[in-house]
Amino acid sequence: MSKKLYIETYGCQMNFSDSEIIASVMSGDEYELTESMEDAHVILVNTCAIRENAERRVFGRIQEFRRVKRKNPDTVIGVVGCMAERLKEDIFREYQEVDLIAGPDSYRHLPEMLDGIREGQQMANVILSREETYDNIEPVRLDSKGISAFISIMRGCDNYCSYCVVPYTRGRERSRNPETIKEEAHRLFEQGYREITLLGQNVNSYKWQTNSELIDFPDLLKQISAVNPKLRLRFATSNPKDLSDKLIQTIAYTPNIANAIHLPVQSGSTEVLNRMNRKYTRAWYLNRIESIKKHIPDAGITTDIIAGFCRETEEDHKQTLSLMRTVDYDFAFMFKYSERPGTIAAKRFKDDIPDDVKSRRLQEIISLQQRLSEQSNKRDLNKTFTILVEGPSKKDIKKMRGRNEQNKVVVFPGTKDLKGQYVKVKVTDYTSATLLGVKQDS
Ligand code: SAH
Ligand code: SF4
Ligand code: F3S
Repeated sequence: MSKKLYIETYGCQMNFSDSEIIASVMSGDEYELTESMEDAHVILVNTCAIRENAERRVFGRIQEFRRVKRKNPDTVIGVVGCMAERLKEDIFREYQEVDLIAGPDSYRHLPEMLDGIREGQQMANVILSREETYDNIEPVRLDSKGISAFISIMRGCDNYCSYCVVPYTRGRERSRNPETIKEEAHRLFEQGYREITLLGQNVNSYKWQTNSELIDFPDLLKQISAVNPKLRLRFATSNPKDLSDKLIQTIAYTPNIANAIHLPVQSGSTEVLNRMNRKYTRAWYLNRIESIKKHIPDAGITTDIIAGFCRETEEDHKQTLSLMRTVDYDFAFMFKYSERPGTIAAKRFKDDIPDDVKSRRLQEIISLQQRLSEQSNKRDLNKTFTILVEGPSKKDIKKMRGRNEQNKVVVFPGTKDLKGQYVKVKVTDYTSATLLGVKQDS
C-alpha cells in the first residue's frame, strides 16, 4: 500500500521547483501526494526565510500540523527548505512535534531519514553541498495539467547582498548540466507544456564548461529556445550587476524568449545600494534599463524594492521614487526591510529606521507603483498581443485567461479548447491587475 505525502510550499519559485523534486524523490519510495493533511502519513512544509513574516507564517502552520498529529499520532511532520537550513535543530527545541528537518541540499536523503523516524528518532540533515543540482531527478509536476513549468538551472548564491539570507540557506552557487536542462525542456514540451521559466537566484552567472566551450546564460537560453518555436521561455532572476548586452540582444532576436525582464533594483540611491552590497550604482542600473529599452522597445520591466534599509534617509527614499518614475516599471514586488540574523547587515548596521517610517515609505512606493502599473495598462489599450492561453478565468468560466509576452494577465471571452494555444487578443479595457480584450481572427 502506498503511503501519503502532503506538502505545503512557501517562498520563491525555486522552492516550488524544489517541492517537485521532493515529490519525485518520495514517489520512488512509494509515496503518493494527497491534498488532505488529515490523510497524510508525512506532512512536509517547504519554507522560506527571506523575511521575518515569512517565518512567522510557517510557525503558524506548524501549530496547525500539531493539531493533526494530536489526532493521528503516527503522522510525521517535517520542516524543509530555507528556514530548516537557517534554524537547524533549534526547530526541534521550539516544536517537539517536528520529526524531521531537511535543508535544500538534502532532499535525496528524505526516504532514509523517514525510515529513521519510524524507529522513533528525530532526524536532521542541513548539510549544504557544492555540487548538488538534482539534475538526474525528473520532477513530479505538482500542476500536472498545467501550461507553465519551472526548471531550476542553478542553485545557491554567491552575491552576499548584505540584507539577504539566501547565501546562508542555499549555499554556494552551482550551475546544472545544460544537456539535462534541454532534456527536461523537451519532455515538458511533449507533455503539453508551452512555457518554461528557467530559475536561479542570479541566472546571469550561469556557466557550464564543456571540453570545448564555455556555455553562459545567453547561450543556454538560445539552446533551450531551439527545443521548439512554440515553447515560450522566461527566466528569473537577473542581477543588474551582470546583465550583459549579449543577454539583452539574445532576448531581442529570439522570438520565443518572452520580452520581459525582472530586474530587482532594491533602492534608487547609490549610497544605499553600496551598503546593500549590490555592486552596482543608480547610474549603472539606469544604463542597463536604457539598453533594454533600446533593443527591446516593448519589454515588460518589473522589479523588487526594499523600503527602509539601514540608514536610509528621506533623500535616499526620494531617489527610489524618482528611479521608479524614470524606469516606469510595469509591476513591482515591494517589501519593508526585515533584518535577518547572521547577515552582513545584521552584523554591521543598525536596523535604525522606525517601523512607522518604513511603513510610510513602503506605502508611498506602493501607491506610486499602482499609478505606474495603471498607466502601463492604459497604454496597452487597442494593442494586439499574442497570448498563451493558460485556462479558464477564475472569475468567469465563459472567459479564458493567459499572459502576453510582457507577463501581463489577459482575460477574453473564449472556450476551453484554446488552452495551451497562442491567440491574438486586442485589448479593449483593463483593471488594475488585468488586461481585458477580444480574440482576433488569426
Ligand atoms: N536573487 C534575487 C532575489 C531573491 S529574494 C535578486 O537578487 O534579485 C527576493 C526579494 O526579496 C529581493 O529581491 C528583495 O527585494 C527581497 N528581500 C530579500 N531580503 C530581504 C530582507 N531582508 N528584507 C526585505 N526584503 C528582502
Ligand atoms: Fe540574495 Fe542578493 Fe543573492 Fe539575490 S543576489 S539571492 S538578493 S544575496
Ligand atoms: Fe525564500 Fe529560500 Fe526562496 S529564503 S525566497 S525560499 S531561496
